[in-house]
Amino acid sequence: MKKIAVFASGNGSNTENIINFFEENELARVALVISNKKKAGVVDKCKLLGVRCLVFSQAELENGAVLDKLLDLKIDFIALAGFLALVPKPIIDAFPQKIVNIHPGLLPEYGGKGMYGIKVHQAVVENEEEETGISIHYVNENFDEGEVIFEEVIEVDFEDSPEDLEYKVQQLEHQHYPQVLEYLIKDLE
Ligand code: GRF
Repeated sequence: MKKIAVFASGNGSNTENIINFFEENELARVALVISNKKKAGVVDKCKLLGVRCLVFSQAELENGAVLDKLLDLKIDFIALAGFLALVPKPIIDAFPQKIVNIHPGLLPEYGGKGMYGIKVHQAVVENEEEETGISIHYVNENFDEGEVIFEEVIEVDFEDSPEDLEYKVQQLEHQHYPQVLEYLIKDLE
């Protein structure tokens, strides 16, 4: 049974969805959730779901405390789900091709520093794009730059507001992220 750690800073709807998906799965479980925000909704969600959630400061993320915890718990795979900090190099090096992120837009155009959450959807509407979607990609030391593994594209209606797109894209995230994780984890040696 493989162990997944989810890193999250926000509301935690993807985290909850991933936890529930793997609860009955024979391949893997969410063994740990890491948050860098103690008041994040994801922290409360984990309490309700009975999943261990640890809150770490930026310093602890960078000084090896988070890496130690991941190694102690023998974590096999890391999924970022709305994690708003860069993953430090020692963690990336310790988990080669085993850290992925989900981004609520198409990369590389709608990614990078400062391009997250509703800001992505605002930019898509402002640019009158005909399409948007989700991207799941490997994580490297820069925001949203690792190799894209999976994309799902949807049409943007001319009357869609950024909030409409946020809702539609989140549905897509929930529909696809756990399955993509399962597919990648199946391939682990
Ligand atoms: C998602 O849209 C994800 O793509 C982005 O942050 C959001 C997190 O939402 N990286 P939630 O906290 O899982 O509800």
